[in-house]
Amino acid sequence: MSNAPVTDALKTVLADTYALYLKTQNYHWNVEGPQFKALHDLFEMQYNDLFAAIDDIAELIRTLGEKAPGKLAFYAETTRIAAGDETYDAMTMVKDLAESQSQIVESLQAAHDAAEKAGDEVVVDAMIGRMAVHRKNRWMLQSLAA
Ligand SMILES: [Fe+2]
Repeated sequence: MSNAPVTDALKTVLADTYALYLKTQNYHWNVEGPQFKALHDLFEMQYNDLFAAIDDIAELIRTLGEKAPGKLAFYAETTRIAAGDETYDAMTMVKDLAESQSQIVESLQAAHDAAEKAGDEVVVDAMIGRMAVHRKNRWMLQSLAA
């Protein structure tokens, strides 16, 4: 059942999701300014979703017969999501997260395409679901920064 192009792409999605989870929660803690309440709450909604998604993606990897990676070093080496900076001002945080949402959509698209090639509709469906969430997040963040 194992399919390396699909599970490798899913591992990248897992690393990106973990990295974005960490950054979004960090910005939830450290955001400041007149929009504090709105951003603190929006970031919380997003990191809660990311936390749940991490479990789903890891278990998807398990259903394909592979071990789900758990080393922080693996996540750091694998993700393209830039590390957050807790000293950023609020709008820089918002723009940084919007950019990361775009990057994770690219990783999801790659996993979607690999799964489609392998004829794995379960993974295709899961990737479409996550792409929809991240596109919506990007829209909300871009609207805040407009
Ligand atoms: Fe909190």
